[in-house]
Amino acid sequence: MGERVLSVEKLKMEGPGKLSGEITVQGAKNSTLPLLAATLLCSSEAVLHNCPMLSDVDTAMRILRTLGCRVRREGHTLVVDPTQLTGDEIPENLMREMRSSIVFLGAIVSRLGKARLSFPGGCELGPRPIDLHLAALRKMGLHIQEDHGCLECYVPGRLTGCSLSLSFPSVGATENIMLAAVCARGTTVLSNAAREPEISDLAEFLNACGGKVSGAGGSVIVIEGVESLSGCEHTVIPDRIVAATYLAAAASTGGQLLLRGARSDHLQLVLPVFEEAGCALKIDKDTLHIQAPQRLRAVKNIRTMPYPGFPTDAQAPVLAMTCLAEGTSVFVENIFESRYKHTGELLRLGANIKVEGRVAVVEGVSRLSGAPVQAPDLRGGAALVVAGLAAEGITELTGLHHLDRGYEDLEASLRGAGACIWRE
Ligand code: EPZ
Repeated sequence: MGERVLSVEKLKMEGPGKLSGEITVQGAKNSTLPLLAATLLCSSEAVLHNCPMLSDVDTAMRILRTLGCRVRREGHTLVVDPTQLTGDEIPENLMREMRSSIVFLGAIVSRLGKARLSFPGGCELGPRPIDLHLAALRKMGLHIQEDHGCLECYVPGRLTGCSLSLSFPSVGATENIMLAAVCARGTTVLSNAAREPEISDLAEFLNACGGKVSGAGGSVIVIEGVESLSGCEHTVIPDRIVAATYLAAAASTGGQLLLRGARSDHLQLVLPVFEEAGCALKIDKDTLHIQAPQRLRAVKNIRTMPYPGFPTDAQAPVLAMTCLAEGTSVFVENIFESRYKHTGELLRLGANIKVEGRVAVVEGVSRLSGAPVQAPDLRGGAALVVAGLAAEGITELTGLHHLDRGYEDLEASLRGAGACIWRE
């Protein structure tokens, strides 16, 4: 990605215009980041294909370089040579840039026996503690001193496998534990693990490198520690949240869209929501086609849940879609406390939404009208694009640095599918 002056950039879209065309779904950001952390564990070069071009991926590459790795990008392929890994410190500015920087902890201490880093940043979705990560790593023998937001970590000898149970199936904590355990002494049994497809993708990579991880994708993951891992080639899974976002954009504009590379098996509780709203879906091996009706119907009750439940990351774009549906849609956000910031901006476009605590009630309106709006976070920004494309007149979206963290070439993809959208 080129250098951009983020503060003045705007995404403008003129609607309403039906989407019609094809979009290829990018590789999953939330797989690429832990996979890049995993490359630290290898004793030789690792090659990751289908890595999206995103600012969060750039941040992960900068972390790897700071630690002494050689990293090069060849299009969507990233090649990481971790053989010169010496650094054990992630600077605060990189920790603040994204929450996933914390998944480097398990891998660094596993390789070097020590690490220095600060508490991570990321989207402001309410409190995002890392207590589950730290408690698990402590149980594996890591000494962690917390001092003014700084974490000083060291382990005498090697980390030790043990029995662990998460009080909530945290995605990041599951990944950190897998990375710490794969080369630990002995076996780790992790109960109530996260079951997201990104966890299975990480397990597949670790096993291809010589790890012994079984049960990923289920609630209990067993990791038998091995002496070392060697690099391998791996292809990142497609991004299910990006797929859901494009489906929502097609639905809100009354259009039709063919998604290439989407994994419908990763969208099990998402696709029925589009059908409930009146969309016709056609699922083929590698493609997913959506045809929206003239007017969408409301959806009854969407509760966000850990996988395989409805993903919190898809809540914002799908909520934006229901703003134009006939009837009342209800959302219950169970994962993050503060994940309705986009609703305030959607009101500016003429939506009718009431939020109380974890519940949002959307009364569908017959038209939205373009207005200046600001992306409050990554998926909230995507929600504003979904609504903006369907709104009458020009919508001007700022806060694009959020979108650039998770959507590669969003406007080019949408333009290719007939949307009138451009960056200024
Ligand atoms: C991952 O974040 C994703 N990020 C998020 O995607 C996603 O929203 C989230 O999982 C839930 O699916 C990446 O994969 C990089 P969690 P993560 O740990 O790992 C609580 C996006 O838009 N919790 O599963 O940080 C936490 O507060 C992003 O792409 C603790 O209490 O999520 C939250 O309520 C945003 N203590 C819940 O668990 C902990 O130590 C889920 O968090 C850890 C988490």
